[in-house]
Amino acid sequence: MSEIQKTSQTPVGAPRIGVFDSGFGGLTVLRSLLSHIPSAEFFYLGDTARLPYGSKSQATVARYAVESAELLESYGAQYLVIACNTASALALDAIRTAAQVPVLGVIETGADSAAASSITRDVLVLATDATVQSHAYAEACAERGLRGIEKACPLLVPLIEEGWTGCDLKNATTGIVTRQVLRIYLDEALAEADARGYALDTVLLGCTHYPLLREMLAESLPEKMTILDSAETTARRVRQQLEAEGALPTAQGSNDGLTRCHFFATDSVDKFRTLGSRFLGQPIERVELIDLGG
Ligand code: DGL
Repeated sequence: MSEIQKTSQTPVGAPRIGVFDSGFGGLTVLRSLLSHIPSAEFFYLGDTARLPYGSKSQATVARYAVESAELLESYGAQYLVIACNTASALALDAIRTAAQVPVLGVIETGADSAAASSITRDVLVLATDATVQSHAYAEACAERGLRGIEKACPLLVPLIEEGWTGCDLKNATTGIVTRQVLRIYLDEALAEADARGYALDTVLLGCTHYPLLREMLAESLPEKMTILDSAETTARRVRQQLEAEGALPTAQGSNDGLTRCHFFATDSVDKFRTLGSRFLGQPIERVELIDLGG
């Protein structure tokens, strides 16, 4: 097993948490987990060879997600975070059936954060095609007394995976393309909200890749709209559950980000290092290549 990011000793009895996404998006969730549970040991898998999940069928996403979850369990993960909205929407039951350990998805936690924030109770959810088709968010919103409009944005994941986020000068030109694509999706969604008479005050990022476009979104949306994702709520929920089970060591260690992380990818480890560092917000030094088959 790799010893990536091994910059501090993991406290004895520290929980081993598996985090999974189709690619890099889940690193936005890992980022929050690292700050909320600094004593844990993390195993992150990006199934980059089979990305995107968002355009695939339920059966395929479930098969990929179960294989990925099993891989993380084989590395000793005692808790699984499905840091992928598409896999959470389409495959959570299948993963829970296959796994021997507790599994948390990001749909419920995302809807919780919208419910805690929205005053008008009308929420726009941006997500992949597969997540939107599943209506997992519309249902989770309705359960919380919210009206949700779900908008599929299928071009965003490939653009983000390509690094076209326009977040620095070097990417400014390619960022223009992404900004235009985003504008089209938002105009369509806002027109639909108008037609339905919804008073949107919250935009929920229902794909773990989308936080990389948060700045661009903020520029493109009316000022009064709050942009949320599920990362923070998910990390808090994992911590609460581990605390409730007495699974966190009493010595938490310092909250200095020096937690142990092991990274696995099913495609180019170089690309994972480069792009993944941007999602995680800190350099990723070592990544292990894993073959999960086709
Ligand atoms: N990051 C995944 C999600 O949260 C989607 C990426 C993909 O389409 O594979 O839905």
